[in-house]
Amino acid sequence: MRADIVVLPGDGIGPEVTTAAVAVLKAVGKRHGHEFRFTEHLIGGAAIDATGEPLPSATLDAARKADAVLLGAVGGPQWSDPKAKVRPEQGLLAIRKALGLYANLRPVKPHSVALGASPIKPHLLQGVDLIVVRELTGGIYFGDKTRSADSASDLCTYSVGEIERVVRRACELARTRRGKVTSVDKANVLETSRLWREVATRVVAEEFPDITLEHQLVDSMAMHLLAKPREYDVIVTENMFGDILTDEASMLAGSLGLLPSASLGEGRVGLYEPIHGSAPDIAGKGIANPYATILSAAMLLRHSLGLEVEAACIELAVDKALDAGVHTADIASAGRAANTAAATAAVLEQLQAHCYVAELRD
Ligand code: IPM
Ligand code: MG
Repeated sequence: MRADIVVLPGDGIGPEVTTAAVAVLKAVGKRHGHEFRFTEHLIGGAAIDATGEPLPSATLDAARKADAVLLGAVGGPQWSDPKAKVRPEQGLLAIRKALGLYANLRPVKPHSVALGASPIKPHLLQGVDLIVVRELTGGIYFGDKTRSADSASDLCTYSVGEIERVVRRACELARTRRGKVTSVDKANVLETSRLWREVATRVVAEEFPDITLEHQLVDSMAMHLLAKPREYDVIVTENMFGDILTDEASMLAGSLGLLPSASLGEGRVGLYEPIHGSAPDIAGKGIANPYATILSAAMLLRHSLGLEVEAACIELAVDKALDAGVHTADIASAGRAANTAAATAAVLEQLQAHCYVAELRD
């Protein structure tokens, strides 16, 4: 198959991790006979420096025409002045919104390496396999903002339609898994959460009677996520709760550097990015963990291009690289860290060794 993939390296370690993921995609393309075309564009702080805008129209136009978008990370201290008119993060929020990517899938399935790297007790991590579906284009992130000399406000709004579509997406996903959805809100305090709960209950009753739905308040969810993570299958929640809970959930996997994400809308084009940020403290040193972005590339193949076998190949190769002890500094035991290039090379090597599926299939 042929596919146009727009690559948005962004800031900090973004270019290092997207370079790694593109190398892996190229190898998979070659091995399985696909023609992937990559075009790089600006986003975030890099785009502000070059054009004055965090999401230049050339980037958005290219993304709209592409089959999929692979993104590194945005942000950094040089653009963090609270008084700045434009911020790198606006680029990310704007592209999510413009492409209508309302469902952000963040799977968490700890590799055995997590048993050592995670601050959570190993017996709690065994068998954890959950996915957070975070609403991505609504809520407090996108509501009106005001600022005066002595006060500020951020409006949180959700419509019935916005809740329905993301709950549906979560339920459809749950059908391919263990059939359980946990909807997270703060219905004891927030009106948007009361609407969320009502709509989630109705959608499941009317359209997904086979799904087991439970509701959880976000504060207790934050606790249960660490105390009994194995109990969760699909967790669906609004934008900001999802942002916070997924950083927390990353600790189950041992590191932010291992978690991929897919942002999907109604169309085919999706945006794929690691859940970690631009890590300016280690940028340019060649030591960033590329696995989360490589795993995001696997999600790209699965969700935007329908290449399930190829996606599974990448996931297997990352698993094997981790098994083989190729651990970057964020997950390594003291003194034995692999750098970005070594981790990428390990994945490429494991692809060679294990991904013969295409030949068998063809
Ligand atoms: C994420 C990030 C972004 C978010 C930031 C960089 C705007 O934290 O993707 O989780 O809050 O959505
Ligand atoms: Mg976040």
